[in-house]
Amino acid sequence: MSHPIQILPSLLSCDFSRMGEDIAMLESAGTHMLHFDVMDGRFVPNISMGLPILEAVRKATSCHIDAHLMIVEPERYVEAFRDAGADSISIHQEASPHLHRTLSLIKSTGAQAGVVLNPGTPVSTLEDVLDLADFVLVMSVNPGFGGQKFIPGALHKVRQLDQLRSQRNLTYAIEIDGGVDHTNIADIATAGCDWFVAGSSVFRSESPATAVRGLHARACSGRQILA
Ligand code: DX5
Ligand code: ZN
Repeated sequence: MSHPIQILPSLLSCDFSRMGEDIAMLESAGTHMLHFDVMDGRFVPNISMGLPILEAVRKATSCHIDAHLMIVEPERYVEAFRDAGADSISIHQEASPHLHRTLSLIKSTGAQAGVVLNPGTPVSTLEDVLDLADFVLVMSVNPGFGGQKFIPGALHKVRQLDQLRSQRNLTYAIEIDGGVDHTNIADIATAGCDWFVAGSSVFRSESPATAVRGLHARACSGRQILA
């Protein structure tokens, strides 16, 4: 089962001094979901934004906020990110020895629960939690920074996840994050992806609103090839 195609602008790439205006502009361009990257300087080599900024974003928008936790011991912060306004929360397989328990914890808060795979981690490591996941996020760059180049091996993982979803009659959405732009988004959609995070390709373009609409159109054309 596939889900409606969504482009999720990654707020990591926005102009932080005008985040409210950027969000309003994206919303009027038809954005339904925003991606919020949390980095702790431990799990990844960079530090980004945390709870107070999420609270401010929550006040500024009615969009779905997708919190991507690139932090060690994510289980310690699940409830706090939910309280701060996240609608979905994803945790890394590599940071979560008790993956099953932490995904259940996320669901118990009422948020959608996602599990994330780094480029070096195979899909097979998720076999026993796929029935619990509301979505699976495939990293197509090594997490930590915006503006990196798409790693093509991610396409194979999206295909594998799409096949497993039909074989096992599961309903998780498939999300991709890192280096997504107008040159590769159609192929990623053809592979079976539903949600596309886009940072630089939206915020570094002349018109972010036009960029979001263009990415959405290309993703839809890629999905038609799949159908
Ligand atoms: C990377 C983050 C991404 C990042 C994507 O670690 O998880 O969400 O913002 O940015 P682009 O689209 O520029 O690769
Ligand atoms: Zn992310």
